Amino acid sequence: MKQQLEQLQVYSAGMSEAALKKKTGYTGFFTKLASNENPIGPSKKVKEAIVNALHSGLNLSEYPDSEATQLKEALANFYGIQSEQLFVGAGLDEVIMMISRAVLTPGGEILTSEGTFVQYNTHAIIEANEIVTVPMQQGRFDLDAFLPKISDKTGIIWICNPNNPTGTYVDETTLVNFLKQVPTHIPVVLDEAYFEFVDAPDFPNTLHLQKQFKNIIILRTFSKAYGLASFRVGYAIASKENVDVWNKVKLPFNVTTLSLIAAEIALEDQAALKTYVKMNNKEREKYFNSKVSEHFLPSQTNFIFVKTDDPESLNQLLLQHGIIARQMPIGVRITIGKPEDNDIVIRALESFFKA
Ligand SMILES: Cc1ncc(COP(=O)(O)O)c(C=O)c1O
Repeated sequence: MKQQLEQLQVYSAGMSEAALKKKTGYTGFFTKLASNENPIGPSKKVKEAIVNALHSGLNLSEYPDSEATQLKEALANFYGIQSEQLFVGAGLDEVIMMISRAVLTPGGEILTSEGTFVQYNTHAIIEANEIVTVPMQQGRFDLDAFLPKISDKTGIIWICNPNNPTGTYVDETTLVNFLKQVPTHIPVVLDEAYFEFVDAPDFPNTLHLQKQFKNIIILRTFSKAYGLASFRVGYAIASKENVDVWNKVKLPFNVTTLSLIAAEIALEDQAALKTYVKMNNKEREKYFNSKVSEHFLPSQTNFIFVKTDDPESLNQLLLQHGIIARQMPIGVRITIGKPEDNDIVIRALESFFKA
């Protein structure tokens, strides 16, 4: 075994209904709000496309298109970029792994914030890199504090924007000011898994910034707003040179044929995306208009970060109401669900904070 793996824990995913039942014997109302999934699911058109594909002689005994040609073309048209700038993976989890594998050399460093998505660190450890982190400022990335931590060993800078688990974001002015000071040979990955939920006007237009800052890598996924988490499709937008290198380490047939079809149709069905995002953002507003909103960090995503000194008790109380959320060291992250489920969550939070 690689010695550094001793530092790693097995990833623990949000509890399922079956696991909750087994653990607590609970059989009442249940909602899983632990993994920032879309509670509506894939659009009708996506489901129909999958069924039609199965009935129209799709050959499932053949390997999928290793280059994801059609999906890349569709994404390239959608964004007005070249197909060669796209790297498609089995979810962003795989994209993050592939970038780490291709870029990080043993003994190097990654630079990121405390309190962000854990996979950046997992792959740094696997690749025998040091993790250099910067504390958050009120639940936000503190990019000014990143600058003195950049060293000759820095292999990748990871910025999760908006951030999981806090829901906060870095604005365009702050990001540009930072990028101007980062040596251009260091890749800056902007993980925008929650991009589609953002409505802040000063959120960075990273596609545009990429023309000026060639070291930017943008990550987006079909798992969140498009509701395709089970299909596993995510992608990076980067320079052709970067993508060429990552293709060398990529698994030959990483994304399944049905997943490629689902992603293509989901991208086409922008009306369904808009409907869900509208619902999510309206429900987000409902949370922020509630009596307990002072306990939340601001959110540009499909989840709410609830601050508390006692995350364990809050999580337990939510579990008693059949709500599976995600306990964190300084709070609990709750995915925004269907309107009726959010009402139950808000009532539970009100009882916790005695609001
Ligand atoms: C910030 C962030 N990046 C990446 C991922 C991984 O997403 P995917 O389902 O595309 O692998 C997640 C999933 O929760 C996430 O929150």
